Amino acid sequence: MKRTLGVCYYPEHWPEAIWREDARRMTAAGLTWVRIGEFAWSRLEPEPGKLQFDWLDRAIAVLGEAGLQVVLGTPTATPPRWMIARHPDMLAVDAYGRPRKFGSRRHYCFSHTGYLDECRRITRLLGERYGRNPHVAAWQTDNEYGCHETTLSFSDAARVAFRDWLAQKYQSPDALNRAWGNIFWSMEYRSFDEIDLPNLTVTEPNPAHVMDFRRFSSDQVVAFNRAQVDILRPLSDAPIAHNYMGRITEFDHYTLGADLDIASWDSYPIGFLSDRLEATPDHKASFLRQGDPDFQAFHHDLYRSVGKGRWWIMEQQPGPVNWAPYNPIPLPGMVRLWTWEAFAHGAEAVCYFRWRQAPFAQEQMHAGLLRPDSAPAPGLREAEAVARELAEAPEVDDGPADVALIFDYASAWAWETQPQGADFDYFRLVFGWYRALRRLGLNIDILPPDTTDLSRWKLVLAPGLFTLSPELRAALPSCPGQVVFGPRANSKTPDFAIPADLPPDLPGLVAKVTRVESLPPGIGVALEGGGQFLHWAEEVETSARVLSRRADGLPALIAADNLAYLAGWPDDITLRRLLSQLCADAGIATVDLPETLRMRRAGGRRFWLNYGPEPVTMAGLSIPAAGVVWTEI
Ligand code: GAL
Repeated sequence: MKRTLGVCYYPEHWPEAIWREDARRMTAAGLTWVRIGEFAWSRLEPEPGKLQFDWLDRAIAVLGEAGLQVVLGTPTATPPRWMIARHPDMLAVDAYGRPRKFGSRRHYCFSHTGYLDECRRITRLLGERYGRNPHVAAWQTDNEYGCHETTLSFSDAARVAFRDWLAQKYQSPDALNRAWGNIFWSMEYRSFDEIDLPNLTVTEPNPAHVMDFRRFSSDQVVAFNRAQVDILRPLSDAPIAHNYMGRITEFDHYTLGADLDIASWDSYPIGFLSDRLEATPDHKASFLRQGDPDFQAFHHDLYRSVGKGRWWIMEQQPGPVNWAPYNPIPLPGMVRLWTWEAFAHGAEAVCYFRWRQAPFAQEQMHAGLLRPDSAPAPGLREAEAVARELAEAPEVDDGPADVALIFDYASAWAWETQPQGADFDYFRLVFGWYRALRRLGLNIDILPPDTTDLSRWKLVLAPGLFTLSPELRAALPSCPGQVVFGPRANSKTPDFAIPADLPPDLPGLVAKVTRVESLPPGIGVALEGGGQFLHWAEEVETSARVLSRRADGLPALIAADNLAYLAGWPDDITLRRLLSQLCADAGIATVDLPETLRMRRAGGRRFWLNYGPEPVTMAGLSIPAAGVVWTEI
């Protein structure tokens, strides 16, 4: 597949007189795509109903005539000020009951039907005008659903919609009372109209209530997006994408992605390292100017799955950003490395955010490919280098993986609702397993929790899965290798109760988790042969094969046929040892990579990515600091 580059551009930020020169420089740099429009509502419709699309017509024409292909965004993440006057109750409300104000972006509630109609209207206008425009080659819906904690809203509109959602799901208040266990604390309801949103309660609300609110909130995002897709489909043949984010789990991306053609995500490796990752101060210092060596790859693999194979980077960090607590400058080479890493994971396109650094407003300290004075910023040179490399070898085939890891949004909601220990975070758990696999030099596929066929993978891993879906249960025998479940797997019913026969209830594995404990930092449960469980440990009664034990003799890892269950949260070394053993048993070759080096097989090549500030030698190859090299396999 041919790989391409692009950039995010805001023609409305700049005098029209410079658009042509900007476009010329973009193509000269080797860029193919330009994403525009996603925040431009106040210029498209300065007064309600008073449309001004002529400037956008000209911008698209100028960019297109220069040879660029346009990704056109719907502007629904930034409703203009008049919209609030028109729909004062459209603002999202936070968990403390405070409406979120106008003055930045994403200030809407997904459940507000009046705002949804406005979004349909502007989307239809754009689709009718540009759906067949030859330069508009892709669409982006809205911008970063869920950014700035905007998925959950505790508004009046959300309450009305939630009651309706519950009524459809349960049909009767009695059924809901039984499912939630509302006899506890006399929480029973006589009608759906009595049910409120689960905020501002005296102590914790019923977890079943919260879990349904989380499912509902996710469904609202999906429905909001679908409304735009349904309008664009008949008006345009161009593919439709959305730009997702790093470590955002508030809505089910697989469900939303099923309505789209392309998944894309916004990759800010250095920003994420400082504000979105649990890591030691040493780790953060070592990768300060490079980003974490596994965080981007995890999301590449996740969004490849969300996009059913088709995915992009819609925004790539080009230099220092403005929004993390500290915003260091990337090491020379990192912009190129991040870009190639995405291609090696199958990205069709990588677009940089943004073309020119804006001298005004909130993001004036955020780098672009150009400085505010229009001179090239260092990121542009690296983008040009990738463009030259792509011109010589544009084809990069996707890489096959032997190992699959299941990632499930509902599990993230469940363990946020009931962590039972302050450090039990689902993303952190799964990401730890991912990182250990990467250190072994493996390609990894990420799968949704309702995967129906496991026949392609020699090893499938499912730590922390809230419930085992009927689809996955039925698919287990199709795996030619082992399926390994981790702590807390299948430990609840879908109604958020403890299963009658106790977890993990896995077919053919006779075992019961009888007690669990969570542990504070620094305290672990020792394992036989070294290592420990941290954060979380379980006591298991079983007649299955015990593959390893805790130091106190209780089972740690048990197995029957092709299923295994790990009864705790292993420390990093134990996890690596366990996964290398499982790979060896499955006939999967592994390598022990140094801390800064990662490797991915893609097509006929091996990509070596050095996230470190020093060169690394591996397999007779020298990989420069902050560098990427590839070899033929
Ligand atoms: C993204 C967002 C962009 C811009 C960027 C800055 O989250 O989609 O509009 O704000 O961050 O890094």
